[in-house]
Amino acid sequence: MDISDNFMKYDPNKLQKFGFIKRDGLDSININPLQTAGRLTEDAKKALTEWGDGYSVCDYCDGILDLIKKPPIEDFVHNVLPEFLGTDQARVTNGAREAKFAVYNTLSKKGDYVIMDGLAHYSSKVAVERAGADVRTTEKTSSPEYEILPEHYIDAIDSGIKEFGKKPVAVQLTYPDGNYGNLADVKKISKIVKEYDVPFVLNCAYSVGRMPINCKSAGADIIVGSGHKSMASCGPVGVLGVNDEYADKIFRKSSHNKVKEIELLGCTSRGAPIMTMIASFPEVLRRTQPENWDLEVKKAQKFIKRLTDTGKFDIYGQKPHKHDLMFMKSEGFANISERAKGGRYFLYKELKERNIYGIKTGLTRNFKISTYGLTNEEVDYVAESFEDILKKYDEI
Ligand SMILES: Cc1ncc(COP(=O)(O)O)c(C=O)c1O
Repeated sequence: MDISDNFMKYDPNKLQKFGFIKRDGLDSININPLQTAGRLTEDAKKALTEWGDGYSVCDYCDGILDLIKKPPIEDFVHNVLPEFLGTDQARVTNGAREAKFAVYNTLSKKGDYVIMDGLAHYSSKVAVERAGADVRTTEKTSSPEYEILPEHYIDAIDSGIKEFGKKPVAVQLTYPDGNYGNLADVKKISKIVKEYDVPFVLNCAYSVGRMPINCKSAGADIIVGSGHKSMASCGPVGVLGVNDEYADKIFRKSSHNKVKEIELLGCTSRGAPIMTMIASFPEVLRRTQPENWDLEVKKAQKFIKRLTDTGKFDIYGQKPHKHDLMFMKSEGFANISERAKGGRYFLYKELKERNIYGIKTGLTRNFKISTYGLTNEEVDYVAESFEDILKKYDEI
């Protein structure tokens, strides 16, 4: 048999659904927390087409991608990113989860374990699992706050030591968590972790690029961020900041190729994703200045107040809320879903008619939303639309 035997036949008729596909809802107001801070800036959109060809940046590489001088990847990765993250060293990765995997694959072996907050994202857990180690999580307070308290870490670390007969290889906090947008007392937790003398890792997928956060000031050793979630970049791309104490280990080099870092599989982001991250960086740095983040928090709080004033909404998580990611609870929409045509799909339809996207189809009682980067007019329009829908179905 020849290797081309049975090779797929070219039949244009069967391929019509492929090729360029228009994106539904592209020009709508998107309130999905996954999307609000990953939207590209105008410069990043230009960079995407300019650098979209495969390995575009590799034309300029002498073997170490993060040392490319022109375009200024070296300056970005080795000077700007460490200052932005507040770490001694930094790298660009293919996402927050790849950054966490690099860390846990370095720090752990079979039989080891990592302690995480009780709200940790699945990607943190699978990163540890893939590295061959176990995960144990802290408790959290009950509904509706679901807070992670510093004492929860003491309990979790102590019971981990009892169960495994040794300290965890690392302790992680999700800051904020991806469900409720809760910001735990990171400095108190870091002091506790220091007492056990283990590395403290911050998963800042929802903070790096949205709000000011400095790893050293927070008392952590390692920080990860997500470019496509929070740094106005096209995915997949993330960032990893590491202090010197752990940098040589995590960024150790291959014995087969002296310049390639093992945990990064030699090279990471090698085209459009890193170039969009660089293109958006001036805007990302502007928007994360404390005074601009304050405006984002105020915007979210105003939105929450307006909706809760109707008596038909509430939020889970910390009050007052300190992040743009909100987990809403809506008795009003849930009531409507029981009698509306289309049942629980009514909300998605009503919002789509108003050019609002981002609440998953079928959700009415509980859903996550974000006001990040929306103009005040857009936030008012979303709140007004929620109220209109309640009025239309006689809920208020
Ligand atoms: C809290 C949190 N951490 C990490 C991630 C994963 O980020 P990435 O896609 O960059 O791996 C997510 C994605 O939803 C998240 O919500």
